[in-house]
Amino acid sequence: MMQGLRLTTHNSRLMTHDLRLTTDNLFYIETYGCQMNANDSEVVAAIMQDAGFTMTDDKQKADVLFINTCSIRDNAEQRVWGRLDVFRLLKQHKPSLIVGVLGCMAERLKEALLENGTVDLVAGPDAYRSLPQLVREAESGQKGINTLLSREETYADISPVRMDKNGVTAFVSIMRGCNNMCAYCVVPYTRGAERSRPAQTIVAEVQELLRNGYREVTLLGQNVNSYAWKNTDDPSKTLDFAKLLELVALIDPALRVRFSTSHPKDMSNAVLYTIAMYPNICNHIHLPVQSGSTRLLQIMNRGYWRESYLERIAKIREIIPECTISTDIIAGFCGETDDDHAQTLSLMREVGYDAAFMFKYSERPNTKAARHFPDDVPDEVKTKRLNEIIALQNRLSLESNRRDTGKTFEVLAEGPSKRSAGALAGRTAHNKVVVFPKAHFKAGDYVTVKITQCSSATLMGEPV
Ligand code: 5AD
Ligand code: SF4
Repeated sequence: MMQGLRLTTHNSRLMTHDLRLTTDNLFYIETYGCQMNANDSEVVAAIMQDAGFTMTDDKQKADVLFINTCSIRDNAEQRVWGRLDVFRLLKQHKPSLIVGVLGCMAERLKEALLENGTVDLVAGPDAYRSLPQLVREAESGQKGINTLLSREETYADISPVRMDKNGVTAFVSIMRGCNNMCAYCVVPYTRGAERSRPAQTIVAEVQELLRNGYREVTLLGQNVNSYAWKNTDDPSKTLDFAKLLELVALIDPALRVRFSTSHPKDMSNAVLYTIAMYPNICNHIHLPVQSGSTRLLQIMNRGYWRESYLERIAKIREIIPECTISTDIIAGFCGETDDDHAQTLSLMREVGYDAAFMFKYSERPNTKAARHFPDDVPDEVKTKRLNEIIALQNRLSLESNRRDTGKTFEVLAEGPSKRSAGALAGRTAHNKVVVFPKAHFKAGDYVTVKITQCSSATLMGEPV
């Protein structure tokens, strides 16, 4: 906090550039949505700190309050509007408080947010470098807005300020945006076109994490399998995701590597062989299916169908026999019939997913589905189907965990268990949470644990 030219927020409405060294200019970030958003907040923190601001985890003390938002489903947006009502009250007590909305909702709702009264600045996912400037404009009483999407921005040179509390696992963005245009999805509109981050900056960030004691990285992108970085010296050479995964795995055998999210249509055999070859690449693949019905997958514009998805699953099982597989499923997409739904349930059984994220379809304005297909499955039918999907997945997860009972796994300890005092929690390479007695172990240790009991969500065991 000793950097030069600064604005203090107490006199900010008068717009005086203040040269005093001050401990004010505290910013607070609240984050909603996916892991990409969590990582973006870390980038925002780095940009703000570089500009001389200091992060606080006490929003009562903050001079600048950021809310990093998600638009993927309507309920995610509703939650943010609710938070803005709370921030309005804070602002009544502290009129100099600057409230900034970041991320997907900022991109989607620009003017509506600024008209809300509580919001002073709005910055889309590619506009975070301009945040210090936008804050200054807001302090001068001018509403700040930057929602320009970029074809190049990857924040490649920015070293995120780690906000994950455990100091053991970290997320590393390898690309931004999405070109897939799934009919239901707002992401291509809010996060823009797909672009890959230079491989050398990814490797450097992972090396730095390792030096700082981290033991696991998750490479993040909306569609990591289409990662492609062109060598600037020789554009004919493109580095693909399989190669990037290998580069990261080679950094240190003691560093676990995960990745998310894979698109089934782009999941190459080369990636599967790379996972099989390096023991430190975790044997877990998140492969969102969305629906088990080919008819619906085509309307969703997913670029694969039931049979080709199952062929990818068979290939995973053939090349990485121990691999766990998780998925995302949407219940009640436009035109979904009882038969389509039954096909989703049958596909779930056929794959035997180890875990799943399950959602009711939520129409997003301006997407292809919103423009062309009526949201015609009644809410109670969506709820009933979602409940059936959840009940089935609970059974499948329990079966998967029961198969692990009696086996021994290497668990990377992440920190104290939330549920059981005196116990540690960590994950297996298969991405299953394991709770075990703390004994002399600490976060960051690899602990060999024999599984003795399980629920559908957690394995419990004893160190051996
Ligand atoms: N409604 C419901 N779920 C959605 N997802 C994306 N868009 C929507 C939507 N409009 C789900 C998909 C995706 C996950 C991140 O969110 O399952 O894989
Ligand atoms: Fe959305 Fe499809 Fe892109 Fe995933 S792949 S972010 S679901 S458009």
